[in-house]
Amino acid sequence: MTKPEVQAATALKSISRNETIKSYIRQSNELYPLLRKAALRFVTGDTREEALKAAEWIKMKGYHVAVECIGENTSIEQECLKATEEFKSLIEAFGQHALKETVSLDLSHIGLSVSSDLAYANLTELAEIAQCSGVSIMTGMEESSKTDAILQIYKKASERFPSVGVTLQAHLHRSPADLQELLHYPGKIRLVKGAYGEPAELALPRSPELNLRYLEMAAALLENEHPVSLATHDESLLQEWTLRYGQLPSHAEFEMLYGIRPERLSELRAEGSRCKVYLPYGEEWYLYVCHRIAEHPENLYRALVDIIGPSTSSRMNSYN
Ligand code: FDA
Repeated sequence: MTKPEVQAATALKSISRNETIKSYIRQSNELYPLLRKAALRFVTGDTREEALKAAEWIKMKGYHVAVECIGENTSIEQECLKATEEFKSLIEAFGQHALKETVSLDLSHIGLSVSSDLAYANLTELAEIAQCSGVSIMTGMEESSKTDAILQIYKKASERFPSVGVTLQAHLHRSPADLQELLHYPGKIRLVKGAYGEPAELALPRSPELNLRYLEMAAALLENEHPVSLATHDESLLQEWTLRYGQLPSHAEFEMLYGIRPERLSELRAEGSRCKVYLPYGEEWYLYVCHRIAEHPENLYRALVDIIGPSTSSRMNSYN
């Protein structure tokens, strides 16, 4: 990224955290529908039904899916219970559609901002239902202030429910050590670079050093035959895998975000690797979409075109 692009990305990440701006946009009859047009590049829609439609289509094309109702930092207990109910309905709908796939969620959406106990109780309630339908659960990783709590909840839950997994951010300096410990737990690890702005004493910025760390962590997971999702769109990392391992072993998969590099995921699937698409839905897309635009400045131009152009239909047709 050029310097102005880095500055734009930093500004967007900080705007995305600004609750006043967020609530202004949410309540604006002019701004909200306009920005929603840009959001539809990255989210399947507002409703569970739209997400399920996209999931079935993409699954039919030979991919696996992870579906998430977007939301985080829910600090009112009633709202956490409402979110948990939504995830319950999503898991039940997976069962009805015979989708033995993944439901993805952030622990702060279902209780962590209230208490660890609430998040654990809601997660295990969901895991119990999911286990009966052959559905797995992947927990996201949030800001570094929550890493300890998320890992503790994951460890406790995965001992009871091995189909619960956790996301690990390679950019945090602590992550290689966390990984060594997590190898003793059964759940899948989704390895990402990290989306949140963190200070230099806690994390690496995007850099060759970060890519090297990502590769070392991924190699440790592959060599230990641990279930792993390599969640990245970075071409240099993807090429390094192909050089080192060719097709991924069956305990590993590539995972990409909906709307990002679908043509590359299609190539990886054609080469024989297990490939998954992460499908978010819901009305709380604001923070998620800001992150997607910030990490790839070209998306700012795309967003502009989406906003001023004609209404777009779902992007699921880009998965072949
Ligand atoms: P990087 O950001 O270095 O980008 C490398 C290249 O990928 C770019 O040059 C571009 O070609 C392409 N690319 C990347 N982002 C793009 C975009 N938005 N639009 C178009 N092209 C793009 N993070 C987190 O902190 N907690 C979490 O729980 C998760 N969960 C998660 C699940 C899944 C399935 C994925 C794929 C990612 C996450 N992330 C996440 C986000 C992750 O941390 C990271 O911010 C993004 O994946 C972007 O990083 P890359 O590895 O793609 O590399």
